[in-house]
Amino acid sequence: MTYKAMKVEIDSDGIALVTIDLPGQSMNVWNADLMADFAAFVEDFAKNDKITGAVITSGKPSGFLAGADLRMLGSGAVGVGKDASPKQQFEAAFNLNRMLRMLETSGKPAKALEKGEAYAKPVAAAVNGLALGGGLELVLACHYRVVADNPKIQLGVPEVQVGLLPGGGGTQRLPRLAGLQNAAMMATQGKPIDPKTALGYGIVQEVVPAGEVVAKAKAWVKANPKAVQPWDKKGFKFPGGGGAMDPRSVQFFMAANAMAQRETNHNYPAVQYILSCLYEGSIVPFDTAIRIESKYFVKLLTSPQTRNMIRTLFINKQAAEKGEQRPKGVEKAVLKKVGVLGAGMMGAGIAYVTAKGGAEVVLLDRDQAYAEKGKGYSVGLVEKAVSRGKLAKDKGDEMLARITPTTDYNALKDVDLIIEAVFEDPDVKADVIKKTEAVIGKDVIFASNTSTLPITGLAKHSERPEQFIGIHFFSPVDKMPLVEIIPGARSGDKALATALDYVAMIKKTPIVVKDTRGFYTNRVVPPYLNEAMLMVAEGIKPALIENAAKLLGMPVGPLALTDETSLELGLRIMNSTKKELGADYKPSGVEDLLETMVTKLGRKGRKSGGGFYEYPEGGKKHLWQGLSDYFPLAKDQPTADEAKERILYAQLVAAAQCYADGIVSDPQSADLGAIFGWGFAPWTGGPMSYIDTIGVDSFVRKAESLAQKYGARFAPPAKFREMAEKKETLYKAA
Ligand code: NAI
Repeated sequence: MTYKAMKVEIDSDGIALVTIDLPGQSMNVWNADLMADFAAFVEDFAKNDKITGAVITSGKPSGFLAGADLRMLGSGAVGVGKDASPKQQFEAAFNLNRMLRMLETSGKPAKALEKGEAYAKPVAAAVNGLALGGGLELVLACHYRVVADNPKIQLGVPEVQVGLLPGGGGTQRLPRLAGLQNAAMMATQGKPIDPKTALGYGIVQEVVPAGEVVAKAKAWVKANPKAVQPWDKKGFKFPGGGGAMDPRSVQFFMAANAMAQRETNHNYPAVQYILSCLYEGSIVPFDTAIRIESKYFVKLLTSPQTRNMIRTLFINKQAAEKGEQRPKGVEKAVLKKVGVLGAGMMGAGIAYVTAKGGAEVVLLDRDQAYAEKGKGYSVGLVEKAVSRGKLAKDKGDEMLARITPTTDYNALKDVDLIIEAVFEDPDVKADVIKKTEAVIGKDVIFASNTSTLPITGLAKHSERPEQFIGIHFFSPVDKMPLVEIIPGARSGDKALATALDYVAMIKKTPIVVKDTRGFYTNRVVPPYLNEAMLMVAEGIKPALIENAAKLLGMPVGPLALTDETSLELGLRIMNSTKKELGADYKPSGVEDLLETMVTKLGRKGRKSGGGFYEYPEGGKKHLWQGLSDYFPLAKDQPTADEAKERILYAQLVAAAQCYADGIVSDPQSADLGAIFGWGFAPWTGGPMSYIDTIGVDSFVRKAESLAQKYGARFAPPAKFREMAEKKETLYKAA
């Protein structure tokens, strides 16, 4: 038999060594080729008397198998297209389950196995690297599992992170091996575990030196010619209890359901369905259980929500990170040494992520003590990581040794890239640009991290405007995944390509945006936070506002976020906008609130001791009770749905306006920027995906009705009205 995606070698004992090795790909995934190969193999394995058992391993140094190819799943159902009937979709989705079941039973009926009238041929997994999703599910369907002793190996079922569930028996074999609680934790959170933890859970039987996985797996197969999975044996019981009658599992499901809803606010059906699979699957025979799993799987796979999540959180994120917007034909930038100017809050974080990405960093400030303090930030983060066992001490030391704090511009002479993060003052920036260009190489790209100054304007201070560009980070730099890249009017292809190469080096997600005030994210966040503050000023209960945002799926409420970014900053931006626009300034309605909070009450935000919230030392933050003395509660409060709508549409309309104005050139970037820049509810796939899913026309109608009720700020952009009329969608294949 010939295979495309794997190799099968049968030894003198009749043991088949199956080596999965997708040609031309760095990582194994379940794609159409592997599915076809594996289906053919399990048929042969069950029937062919010359094969006595099997060992399954991978030919890739990168790992065992990373799950299903999400591009295949993202197209609707599993390979049958989105127009297939529900039955066809079920059958397609059930394929993996059918195959894995055949592998573990050798095609023998469950009844015969249970009665001991038949046995399956033994199958062992020899796992040399990560096994995720459908990869781990294949491992679980083997009777014996040997994993290389390397704490970095990830074993997990992360499907929930893109709105799916493990659909290859993961929701059934995991709880039967590791107990309901461990299985629920792994599947609903999607976090992987390491081999030793897996050994403790009973998922893995042996953890051995890397070079021995295949030999150990073979030895087991040879010594155990008759294999039956525990769940196919008579009297099988779930470890830790299972089913509808065991008080332990009844109690578990009661708590797990409540906790799941608390965590997800009913926004993630995948979490609910995983728990349903665990529960329903634990009260029926295994062959029924995997059919139940496939049913829930198809339900998710065919939902717009899952499609949106896969598209934004996986496909488009990866495409952006791989340089989708990188100009073609520009040689990849080699960034061995990066100069970071300004060692304040942002510069310190930028130095850290750059050194972590592998480059040397010259961290320059106007004063040596400030430069040292900036490096101190990295020292703190490294020490924390080392003390938590997340980073080896020598690796941490190496990383810190790459950062050189200085005040001397000559230290910049051989850098490959400059990132400027000095004060937000055009004169200071102009001075720094001049001094830097006097020493750096002629073709070095200069990037500014300015948050408000137009790049084209700053580039006027440069002798080489085509080499000047914006790279806009978010605070805290080490945690925030998004970076906005802003080409100025004269930035060249090399500047853009270098900026994207740099972002790839530090492993963040880039979007390319237009050079306008606030770029993209800072044009959407202020109207969103303003809406929440307006609601406070109108006397709406702050707790209602915050909870409405959380119900929508925002990770933090807008008032808490305002406290983080500081009300003082809000007031400063408002005043400078007023000054800039003069007579054209349109009051936003929160002027009085900001003045009162900041100037009168000194409640400037979290860093200054408190804002909308109180931050008791050692205690949990809570809303400030005194607020209603200044902004009395209204007698009539909106419903939670009304509050949710205002909070949601403040963001949708502002994001749509940015897309209409070409500030983000495509819906993909608008969605990525929203989720990774300010935490827009990830379950939606982003604001553009959300609008597409409800329909552009319903978005327009709702926005218009909100504009009538609350003000013109909710009016939908003209472009969206036109799109609604023409029945257009934002994403081509919506
Ligand atoms: P910061 O005030 O914490 O740090 C600025 C640093 O630049 C200070 O250490 C200062 O000593 C140094 N500096 C000032 N003049 C200098 C000069 N002539 N030569 C060398 N070093 C000099 O400010 P932060 O917050 O780090 O902001 C820096 C830049 O990043 C600004 O352009 C800001 O708009 C931008 N930014 C800030 C964000 C934030 O959340 N704070 C987010 C994104 C961008």
